Amino acid sequence: MDRRRFIKLSSLLGGTLTLSTQLTGCASAPQTKDYFPAVEFTHGVASGDPTPSAVILWTRAVPADNDDSGYVRWQIATSPDFNSPLRDGVAKTTRNNDFTVKIDVQDLPAGRSFYYRFFTSENRSVTGTTSTLATGVIDKLKFAIFSCANYPAGYFNAYQAAAEDSEVDVVLHLGDYIYEYPKGGYATANAEAIGRDFMPGNEGELLTLKDYRLRYATYRQDNGLQLLHQRKPFIAIWDDHEIANDTYMSGAQNHSADEGDFFARRTAAIQAYYEWLPIRPPMGDGNPQIYRSFEFGNLVNLYMLDTRVIGREKQLNMADYKRADGQFDGKAFMQALHNPDRTLLGRAQFNWLADEVKQSSARWQVLGQQILMGKMHYPAEVLTSEREAVAGAIEGLLGLLKKQQAGATLSEEELARLATKLPYNLDAWDGYAAERDKVLSLFSDAQKSLLVIAGDTHNGWVNKLTDNSGETVAMEYATPSVSSPGMEGYLGLNTAQAKRLADALPLLIDDLSYCNLHERGYMTMSFTLSMVTTQWHYVSNISNENYTVFTRHTERFVN
Ligand SMILES: [Fe+2]
Repeated sequence: MDRRRFIKLSSLLGGTLTLSTQLTGCASAPQTKDYFPAVEFTHGVASGDPTPSAVILWTRAVPADNDDSGYVRWQIATSPDFNSPLRDGVAKTTRNNDFTVKIDVQDLPAGRSFYYRFFTSENRSVTGTTSTLATGVIDKLKFAIFSCANYPAGYFNAYQAAAEDSEVDVVLHLGDYIYEYPKGGYATANAEAIGRDFMPGNEGELLTLKDYRLRYATYRQDNGLQLLHQRKPFIAIWDDHEIANDTYMSGAQNHSADEGDFFARRTAAIQAYYEWLPIRPPMGDGNPQIYRSFEFGNLVNLYMLDTRVIGREKQLNMADYKRADGQFDGKAFMQALHNPDRTLLGRAQFNWLADEVKQSSARWQVLGQQILMGKMHYPAEVLTSEREAVAGAIEGLLGLLKKQQAGATLSEEELARLATKLPYNLDAWDGYAAERDKVLSLFSDAQKSLLVIAGDTHNGWVNKLTDNSGETVAMEYATPSVSSPGMEGYLGLNTAQAKRLADALPLLIDDLSYCNLHERGYMTMSFTLSMVTTQWHYVSNISNENYTVFTRHTERFVN
């Protein structure tokens, strides 16, 4: 840092120190006006939630002298030398928010790229790059889309790969940015061997604010994730594991009474999420409302939904629909599943979405959300098989299909085996079928071109989204996990078996046209006025930082 320049800047600002250029109030002045003691920039820099005139800048600044608070300066400029910053300021960092610093920089020009950095009198952060959204006519736009990064399961090479793609404009994160499980829990078996253990003091399941904060601090040590945050603005929403597995409005599968009050846990989880992500919660940091929209000129309207916290009713469980004689009561189950009042988004969010869609004139409508929307209706005998028997059951059904295709007549029983289907995952939109229809109708009634993006499953998928008459009204593209194990892990398949299953599933599931069940990676979506090109990129390795990236599948949408 050039000390002369620093004094000039600080005297320009006098004693007025703001944490943000609009959102938060004034911070009190540091004791020595021209001298800001060193901080440690422990986790790089990040930016997010760009609008045409604003963007969130983020860093973590821990006072080097172990104080409870300190100050950093920030600058944003159009050139990397910062000779004439567009905006600058001073922000306070305190233990109260885990020394995370977020600035909502306002009054920036639209559609521009920027450099930004934080510094004290003694040291400075790395320089980040970000941008504001363009308005009006936009020729092209590229998203990189992620979900399900699990630190103990592997290195975040998928983030690294996207950081190195200079054409990516914005990163969308669809949740499971962290996982709440303890050491020894889900997907931690290789952690020690690959150097991805949790920090000391963070080995338990996450329950308290301290637990959640330390988990973010662990995940953000990953070089790929740090680089992606440094280079690209994020637009993020949570899924369940930012709180606990299979979260719904008032509880979670992975929350039990002996773990304390669910809402206290949820509040802690959300606080840590807001602290660590470069996000602008629409109702402020104290409010769990996260759903919001982004307008990319005339090209794309992006709606980021919350399918977890605000309005989700508890997941149905088929085991609850056993009759006294032990038989599955399919009729009662289907009635519950198609109950028109059953909600996933909640009424307020649904009405908000309806209003937004009505007003949007963008060429493409994109629903950014967590869970699969396609009808993943598997033959019932696959779902009722033990894990080890699933691959065999699928082979058996494929045999029947082949027989049928060869012109043989199937028996009634064989036809029933193929035709009797049940939704596979009641935590996904399949468990909230009536509301899925209503959401799709919002777009199809307004004759808008809709693309739905999803995460959550750890595998790549392409689904037709169909209405009740079977007509395709939208497409769904689902991104593979960054590092969480996929269906190959769940079913214990080797690569050849997983590939074979991926070829088989689209034959057995009506609306499914592509899947990859065994590789980790991410998705990109490139928009022009005439076409949307979606690509699935997979990394060759997550056991260390050496990898190659392969683009294995491309979908073109021209509706
Ligand atoms: Fe996940």
